[in-house]
Amino acid sequence: MTYLMKNPKKLRKAQKEVRQAIEKKRFVKEEDIEQLPYLKAVVKETMRLQPAAPLLLPRESSQDCDFDGHKIPAKTTVYVGENPEEFKPERFRKKSIDLKGVDFGMIPFGAGRRMCPGINMGLVIVELSLANLLYAFNWEMPLGTKSEDLDMEALPGITMHKKNALCLMARKYVCE
Ligand code: HEM
Repeated sequence: MTYLMKNPKKLRKAQKEVRQAIEKKRFVKEEDIEQLPYLKAVVKETMRLQPAAPLLLPRESSQDCDFDGHKIPAKTTVYVGENPEEFKPERFRKKSIDLKGVDFGMIPFGAGRRMCPGINMGLVIVELSLANLLYAFNWEMPLGTKSEDLDMEALPGITMHKKNALCLMARKYVCE
């Protein structure tokens, strides 16, 4: 929601998609999600920029190894991280990047034997909540605040929590 508020065109695009697909049904259900490719791309793009567990859980190398010219001694903790900038869900419409730990460029749920076993449940919860928030309400900044001032600061910890809560004004949307 923070990224969408900062990118109003993308908010409108995601909202248009969900409202066209759901029309007067009043609630987005799990089976509707497949009709919402742009919303899915918004979730992926957010996970790319702000992964819930940014450094995954720490692991250390079991033996000396060489990775792409980098010598990694045994018992070294290696962090995987990405620090990109632009919020652009469209990038996922062209490339099909899977989150299931196959495409190593993006592994918000980890990869390999210890990857998140809750991936399907986690993704559906995020997609469904976002889809319903976008379907049912029009979102505005509270009076006297600007979307430019919204920040992405996170509290320290294994998982990311916003330091400053996102505070928005919701207006009920009624499908005519
Ligand atoms: C958007 C939601 C979620 C995200 C982004 C997420 C992400 C992650 C990540 C990055 C890891 C570490 C994987 C690794 O070390 O390679 C992990 C581990 C784990 N997650 Fe999730 N997770 C989510 C939801 C869930 C849910 C809903 C459940 C359970 C119902 C769950 C259960 C677990 C468990 C048990 C582990 C430890 C697996 C192990 O160490 O073998 N997660 N998750």
